[in-house]
Amino acid sequence: MKLMILNGPNLKRLDLRESHIYGDFDYATLEGYIRDIAKAEGFEVDIRQSDDEAVLIGWLHEAADKKIPLVINPAAFTHYSYAIRDAVVMLKAPVIEVHLSNPLSREEFRHTSVISGVVNGTISGFGMNSYRLAVIAMRELIGNLEK
Ligand code: DQA
Repeated sequence: MKLMILNGPNLKRLDLRESHIYGDFDYATLEGYIRDIAKAEGFEVDIRQSDDEAVLIGWLHEAADKKIPLVINPAAFTHYSYAIRDAVVMLKAPVIEVHLSNPLSREEFRHTSVISGVVNGTISGFGMNSYRLAVIAMRELIGNLEK
């Protein structure tokens, strides 16, 4: 089973961003962590990052066309990108939103997610573990769909 993981803007610079919020690791470490977890859960994982909304939308179209389950951290696009929301709506397989931090405990503009209303579920606030929990939740979601 394939699984696409999309990461939005500024996540490649995790080691240079607010470490008290995001943790003390770089993007390569995060990718390696996700890769290992996804493999252990039986997924053939494809992890991508872009700072560009249009690129992310192109990847969402690809996931929709190929009916690939998706885990997405839309980063700042979470809070205002109706274009990403509209592309998420078109997905055919389950989709989970993840965040390293808990946006609801941060600045007010982060309290709105235009994505949460169109995904199967959202996992926030557990650092790298958010992705692990998302991959496990995805495994179970797909397992239940197959029953
Ligand atoms: C984030 C939270 C967003 O508010 C922020 O813009 C990010 C990262 C997270 O993973 O905690 O870039 O999505």
